Formats: sequence, C-alpha cells, structure tokens
Amino acid sequence: MTQVLPEHMTAIAIDAPGGPEVLVPREVPVPRPGPGEVLIKVAYAGVNRPDVLQRQGNYPAPADASPLPGLEVAGSVALLGEGVTTLLPGERVCALVAGGGYAEYCIADAAQCLPVPESLPLAQAAALPEGLFTVWHNVFERGWASEGETMLVHGGTSGIGTMAILLGKLFGLTVIVTCGSPEKCERAREIGADHAIDYKAQDFVEEVARITGGRGVDLVLDMISGDYVPRNLKCLAEDGRHVTIAVLGGAKATLNMAVVMSRRYTLTGSTLRARSREFKRLLAQEIAAQVWPHVERGELRPVMDACFPLAQASEAHRRMEAGDHIGKIVLEV
Ligand SMILES: NC(=O)c1ccc[n+]([C@@H]2O[C@H](COP(=O)([O-])OP(=O)(O)OC[C@H]3O[C@@H](n4cnc5c(N)ncnc54)[C@H](OP(=O)(O)O)[C@@H]3O)[C@@H](O)[C@H]2O)c1
Repeated sequence: MTQVLPEHMTAIAIDAPGGPEVLVPREVPVPRPGPGEVLIKVAYAGVNRPDVLQRQGNYPAPADASPLPGLEVAGSVALLGEGVTTLLPGERVCALVAGGGYAEYCIADAAQCLPVPESLPLAQAAALPEGLFTVWHNVFERGWASEGETMLVHGGTSGIGTMAILLGKLFGLTVIVTCGSPEKCERAREIGADHAIDYKAQDFVEEVARITGGRGVDLVLDMISGDYVPRNLKCLAEDGRHVTIAVLGGAKATLNMAVVMSRRYTLTGSTLRARSREFKRLLAQEIAAQVWPHVERGELRPVMDACFPLAQASEAHRRMEAGDHIGKIVLEV
C-alpha cells in the first residue's frame, strides 16, 4: 500500500515551560522513520502525568527523543523504516514512544508496537502502553510479585493505579489501594481492588495492618515517596519489596535502615522513559507474550476517563492536574 504523506502536520508543542496554556497546536514537519522504526498515523494519544511534568519543565525529554509531549499512541502504520519486516502498512498498532505522541504522526520503534485486535477500540489501545509497560516492569520484574501475594498501590484511581489493579487481579494478587476520596475508593473497588483505603479519612498503615491481620503486604507500588516511604515500610511483610515509580510527595525520605535489614526488605524503583531501546524492546516482547493474550481475549481493558480533541490538549492537562479523573485521559487526533 503506497501512502502519500504530507510534509507537515499538526502537533502540540510546549512553547516554554509553564501551565497548560503553553500547550499549543503548531505546524511541524512530519518525521521520517529511521532503521527499525515506523511512522504511525496517530488516531489517539494517551495523556500521562509525566507529560504534565515535562510541560512544567521538570521532566526533560531524553536527548534522542522528540521534544513534543506524548508517550503512547494508537493508530495505523503509515510508513516502514529500513529493515522493518514485522509490521505492514495500514496495520492497527499501539506503541510506547519516547515522545511526540501529541501529533498527527509519530515515530515508534517497530519492536515497541503491539498489534491492536479488532475488538479493541483505538482510543482504549492508546491508553494501554505507558501503564502496561510501567506496571508490568515495576510490579512483576522489579517487585517480583507472584500469584497469591498482596500488593499496596497508592494513587489507586490514577492511570497507573488502575492498571496496577487490573494487572494485579489478572495475575492473582490481592490488591489494596489508597485513594483521596470515598468516591474514588468506591470506583477502585468496582475496577477490582480488593480493598480501598481513603487516606484522607484513615491512616493507611493501620488499615493495611488490619486488612492483612498484622502480616503486611508483599509489595508496595509507590508514586508518592517523601514521608510515605517510612510509612510504607511499616506496611511491608518480611521480605517485602518497595518499588518507587514517582515522587509526587517529595523525593527525600528518612528511613530506619535497621528495619530494612532485620525484615529483609528490598528497595527499588525505575523510570521508564530514560531506558534504552533494547530494554523497552525486551519489555514489549515480555508483555506481548504474558499480557497481550489477555487483551486479545478482551480480559484486559484500560479504565477510561475522558477524551479531548488534540487541539484541546491544554484542557486534558487541566483535567489531570485537577485530580478528579479516574483512569486514563486520551487525545483524539
Ligand atoms: N517510573 C515510571 O516509569 C513512571 C511511568 C509512568 C508514570 N509514572 C508516574 O506515576 C504517577 C502516576 O501517573 P499517572 O499518569 O497515572 O498520573 P495520574 O493519573 O495523574 O495520577 C496521579 C495520582 O496520584 C495521586 N496523588 C497523591 N498525591 C499527589 C500529589 N501530590 N500530586 C498529584 N497527585 C497525587 C492522585 O490520587 P488521589 O486523588 O487519590 O490522591 C492521582 O490519582 C505519576 O507521578 C507519574 O509521573 C512513573
């Protein structure tokens, strides 16, 4: 299939670090895929908290990535780069991308694309990669979660938190979440969480102790950090794992390392965007093998919050920053 590609496209640029208003539609050249890459005609782009941090100037794009925001897309393959044999032009895919998702066209590493089954709407497909890659790697590869274990997830109704509930349940974990309101707790339970703690009304350390009969959880997936970390450690069972994926509550924590030692804790964490292509390819392979069959069978669907037109990316960021969203926000291109 021969596609006539335009020279220019509309993309959302970050004119200067600042509030949502700095996200403005701009005409920019359509990028061309390099070896091993494909050009995706974007139908939907996922919105993630790291995009907000990037917009604010607190999470710069890696040197080799597009400076445009957007870490996940779904659409159709428009052009194959040299050496790509695994995808066909026109094929429906979703992909983890290192940037540039808020645009009509976006470059993706061919090995970081996943095929979108007919039963999966592209809007939902665009909401999967960032959460899936982040949660899979941190919960199962870094946190060694295994069937029958119990996990505590903060930000239970966030894009990441909802994916952690879904994957946790799919792979046999008991999932406890914290959320900032009774309404969010109720939604988290509907999504599948076994227990939801309203952290503004209850002490989550006491609640976790009560729920687990004093044993504690095997794993904490933490996006808050700061003074949560010592409290999280109080929630961990012996041999527990503490996995940090963000520092929304502050980067510094004071820890009693004697407790880490005596209870044999593992402290780890990671950021996805900065990882090498090779790492992300391996992760995509792992997800294709372990998780994608569940997507194909319709057993795993992202929790969708809202969809905004691409030109209203600033509104999408306002919604995310207001903090009332539950699940994923996407942009329709
Ligand atoms: N390490 C990685 O590889 C990686 C990858 C992707 C995302 N992340 C990080 O994971 C976090 C979640 O991402 P997301 O896209 O799912 O974001 P999101 O939907 O906006 O979720 C953020 C959640 O954090 C809770 N929260 C608690 N304290 C907060 C604070 N001080 N400021 C803002 N939110 C606060 C909010 O829930 P309540 O209202 O219930 O408090 C909210 O649900 C972000 O920090 C993001 O940067 C990390």
